[in-house]
Amino acid sequence: MQVSGLQKIVFASGNQGKLREMQHLLQGSGIEVLAQSAFNVPEADEPYSTFIENALAKARHASQLTGLPSLADDSGICVDALEGLPGVHSARYACETPDDQKSDHANNTKLLKALANETNRQAHYYCVMVLVKYAQDPQPLIAEGIWHGEILTAARGNEGFGYDPIFLDVASGKTGAELNIEVKNKISHRGLALQQLLNKIKLL
Ligand code: IMP
Repeated sequence: MQVSGLQKIVFASGNQGKLREMQHLLQGSGIEVLAQSAFNVPEADEPYSTFIENALAKARHASQLTGLPSLADDSGICVDALEGLPGVHSARYACETPDDQKSDHANNTKLLKALANETNRQAHYYCVMVLVKYAQDPQPLIAEGIWHGEILTAARGNEGFGYDPIFLDVASGKTGAELNIEVKNKISHRGLALQQLLNKIKLL
């Protein structure tokens, strides 16, 4: 797959794992994915109440500071009974002050407590990916993925990260933390969004 005009793109994230995943997926595409840290781009603020606004802000910020096309993502878990929370606050759900360290364990404990008397356990992971060709691109490429499941009443499994130990994939009967990475990548919000983004890039 050769895509004209997209020889180099900056990945607007400090997350090395995500960067490697992206580089792996775009292998052979003629597109080189570079870390924003290579250009000393600081993490952008994520002040918005929707994933798409935050992803766009990150992509525009990295493109503005590097002069290159930029790719950003944003993701989290949305719980029906909590009107979509933790949502964009997923990473820092249990933090009470800006100085608090984020903790997966504290987040899971808080979510289990919030749902203690709740019978509706429906939830989904959401991921959005945005590619801007220039900082003020009026027509960004946008791809999204959703992974539906339920919140358990106790944690299970040791794989994955974040809310995976309490998130049940109903089809397999396993939590996100009981699935191996290859299986998770095929069905997860992030895997689906990446695949959709790749299909859109191919059409450029
Ligand atoms: P971000 O996209 O790296 O900002 O992730 C936001 C937060 O959502 C993470 O810190 C996790 O708490 C949660 N999250 C997103 N994707 C996953 C996942 O695949 N498994 C578990 N938690 C996730």
